[in-house]
Amino acid sequence: ASTTEVDISSVQTGQAIKAIFRKQPVFIRNLTQREIDAANAVDAASLRDPQTLEERTKEGKTNWLITMGVCTHLGCVPLGAGEGEPRGEFGGYFCPCHGSHYDTAARIRKGPAPLNLQVPDYEFTSDTVVTIG
Ligand code: FES
Repeated sequence: ASTTEVDISSVQTGQAIKAIFRKQPVFIRNLTQREIDAANAVDAASLRDPQTLEERTKEGKTNWLITMGVCTHLGCVPLGAGEGEPRGEFGGYFCPCHGSHYDTAARIRKGPAPLNLQVPDYEFTSDTVVTIG
């Protein structure tokens, strides 16, 4: 199994970048405090795919939201990781194929997708490098 190393040192708060892992897009986002607060303000039990931001990030690095960039409906690449792209009604990601809206924890909130954007296996191998896979 291959892994992907990504240098995250240039990803400013509020920004995201796209990487490729096993030929699929991965979104790496540096959440703002406001985005973290918005995710934590939601009762996870009320969600279609109930997970907290804490469960979807690493301890002490809750600001780093790392997910596959693959909509769980039919596999389109959602918008929101690229500069200036729309982030949908919940401020996370928006899949334009059939209108799925993901929140700032990349959890499905509206539209046909059944599940949150998948969190791949990854670890921080230094302060500035994430190894995915
Ligand atoms: Fe994303 Fe259908 S593939 S909403």
